[in-house]
Amino acid sequence: MKLPNGPQTPAVVQMLRWIISPMSFLEACAAKYGDMFTLKLENNSPPLIFVSNPQVLQQILTNDTKEFAAPGDTNLLFESLLGKRSVITISGAEHQRQRQLLLPPFHGERMRSYSQVISDITEKIISQYQIGQSFNIRSAAQTITLRVIMQAVFGLDEGPRADKLQHFLGEILEKGSSKLSVALLYFPSLQRDFGPINVWGRQMRRQQETDRLLYAEIRERREQPDSSRTDILSLLMSARDEAGQVMTDEELRDELMTLLIAGHETTATAIAWAFYWIHKLPSVRQKLLQELDSLADNPDPNAIFKLPYLNAVCCETLRIYPVAMLTFPRVVKTPVSLGGYDLEPGTGVIGSIYSIHQREDLYPQPKQFKPERFLERQFSPYEYLPFGGGARRCIGLAFAQLEMKLAIAKILTSRELELVDNGEIRPQRRGLVTGPNRPIEMVIKSQRQVKSHISQIKELQEMKTTA
Ligand code: HEM
Repeated sequence: MKLPNGPQTPAVVQMLRWIISPMSFLEACAAKYGDMFTLKLENNSPPLIFVSNPQVLQQILTNDTKEFAAPGDTNLLFESLLGKRSVITISGAEHQRQRQLLLPPFHGERMRSYSQVISDITEKIISQYQIGQSFNIRSAAQTITLRVIMQAVFGLDEGPRADKLQHFLGEILEKGSSKLSVALLYFPSLQRDFGPINVWGRQMRRQQETDRLLYAEIRERREQPDSSRTDILSLLMSARDEAGQVMTDEELRDELMTLLIAGHETTATAIAWAFYWIHKLPSVRQKLLQELDSLADNPDPNAIFKLPYLNAVCCETLRIYPVAMLTFPRVVKTPVSLGGYDLEPGTGVIGSIYSIHQREDLYPQPKQFKPERFLERQFSPYEYLPFGGGARRCIGLAFAQLEMKLAIAKILTSRELELVDNGEIRPQRRGLVTGPNRPIEMVIKSQRQVKSHISQIKELQEMKTTA
């Protein structure tokens, strides 16, 4: 079987480049080998073909339950955090069943019912910062998104258990974002206690604390069932499989952990990048404020969600520095011809989201932030895919977009913000995803009041009568 070309360096060298500077590694490979190349990241695993050709990706993602599979056992990296029973680590029919259960709360009416929660939590968190005080916008966004997802999942975002959960989840993600922690995930033989540099051991203890809190919540809910609750944990607890069995505590824990982790850090990073670009480029901020202010008479979440320029800003934010660089791997199930290569069952393929979003033919001047691209042209789901596609397409896609838009609208219309310095901030690896290479520090200059058209007319009339 002939595979697409790729670097011939030993697997460990390729792995280290992937861990240390993933985006420049992807760019160097795409420049040298084109939009399909093979990497060998582990000695004992089959090589993995990285794809950034939209047609090839379409073939994979529209067939990833037929000629290809989207197995969970290729996502072992996530197992130590999310467990063996997470929607991300399970496979086949079981995976599809679990997705069907988790999808509805993140779509349609159920999802829109979180609009008020998002706006209220955003206001509560941003009002903790004083005028003139500088703060890290990513940390603020992370508090917002974690509280929102806790509200959606448990129906609570405050109280001692919620506060402790917030603390431990924050620590797990923060400490797990270093390159050393990532190396421990990719090299399982290093997952042991190493005396004073006990990175793995400490991470495991934080996880045990988090588990204790999650199991306590599950136990309380089992002991005091309340049929009026509409949160996702209640929904999962009342679900039954084909044999009439309810989910075990372990299954519930893994799914809760998955939603809490997948559902907040990604969105927080996206919100932080959006603030960076909006304030880095004055023309973007001006156009966006003009559009947002036009809703002053009717700042209804549905109307905000549909604003074209706000949508374009969010799309461009997730294009230029996608939080997830890759889709999850897919595996060839039956012999298949893909992009001119005849592939045998067992071959791994993966969508390189970052590389597709950097294609010059699709996105001229790809390093520039230009929301207008999304107003001038419609991209196919295989040309623009920050949330992946096919059988494992992100469950929280619509929820994340709603959260981004409402949080941005709330903060921008009520406060004048500024970047503390105008220096360039670039993306880098942060755990298994990406994030800014240094804190995006912002400062609130003043409160902002947008006058509705009705109050502007009233003021004019009053001025006329007094004159
Ligand atoms: C900007 C925010 C987000 C981005 C960029 C993002 C991106 C992604 C990507 C690229 C995938 C893999 C898709 C594939 O392999 O084809 C994924 C899967 C997933 N995402 Fe998200 N995501 C975001 C927010 C969320 C939120 C808010 C939630 C939950 C509330 C969520 C839950 C999940 C889950 C559970 C999966 C696994 C689906 C499966 O295995 O079937 N994500 N996400």
